[in-house]
Amino acid sequence: MANIIDGKKISAQIRTEIAEEVKAMKAQGIHPGLAVIIVGEDPASQVYVRNKGRACEEVGIYSEIIRMPESTAEEELLAKIDELNARREISGILVQLPLPRHINEAAVIAAISPEKDVDAFSEVNVGKIMIGNHHFLPCTPAGVMELIRRSGIEIEGKQAVVVGRSNIVGKPQAMLLLHANATVTVCHSRTKNLAEVCRTADILVVAIGKADFITADMVKPGAVVIDVGMNRKADGKLTGDVDYAGVSEVAGYITPVPGGVGPMTITMLLKNTLTAAREQNK
Ligand code: GUN
Repeated sequence: MANIIDGKKISAQIRTEIAEEVKAMKAQGIHPGLAVIIVGEDPASQVYVRNKGRACEEVGIYSEIIRMPESTAEEELLAKIDELNARREISGILVQLPLPRHINEAAVIAAISPEKDVDAFSEVNVGKIMIGNHHFLPCTPAGVMELIRRSGIEIEGKQAVVVGRSNIVGKPQAMLLLHANATVTVCHSRTKNLAEVCRTADILVVAIGKADFITADMVKPGAVVIDVGMNRKADGKLTGDVDYAGVSEVAGYITPVPGGVGPMTITMLLKNTLTAAREQNK
């Protein structure tokens, strides 16, 4: 049976460290603050945003949640971002995605000052990640790296396979593993012999958004399997991209869903907010 990587526990440890850091920063007169903008009523987004606000509160980070109606014009949203860019007490700005269809997501991301872009979605920050000269790490891939490291798993020299090539997870994940000296392969929906490629992985990170897609026969015995998936089953239960019951018989380490990668994403957002506050107060 695989060792379970407990994301809830690791996340709680890191949040305790962050709370200590916030205290020390405040003693130096630095007050980190996060603004989260949500446009519209998407129920999943409402939950994520509420959790982000709560997480800030728990570690002593000032937070503002800005709720805008579905009918908000793109110019109004851009004006709000401008206002937040200019406010000193706001160190980080996050616009919850997805946005309503009439708003251009790329224009919105580009409007956030790169120094406050705690998602690390802007062209400047993505470029910095590519080069390895970054302040902010994208939250989910950074959370995955932290789970691997804090489980005492060596990355250098390992074969890593990333399944999925999104801008939010797959692509930056591949880059972070590469920076950690893994040999990285990225697979996607058009990959031929996907099962065969997955079986070469010492570290397998899966982010394709298909429930129970990775089965035991696709996993090398003893591999580290990280499941970024969050799929809602017909009965309302959350499930990952990995067939947990089957794969945990083969893998050496595995993350559960929920309770694996999920809690780490917000934790990394808190970390980025501290980084932003520190940089802005240099
Ligand atoms: N929607 C789903 N995940 C994310 C995320 O990491 N950041 C933002 N801004 N929106 C999201």
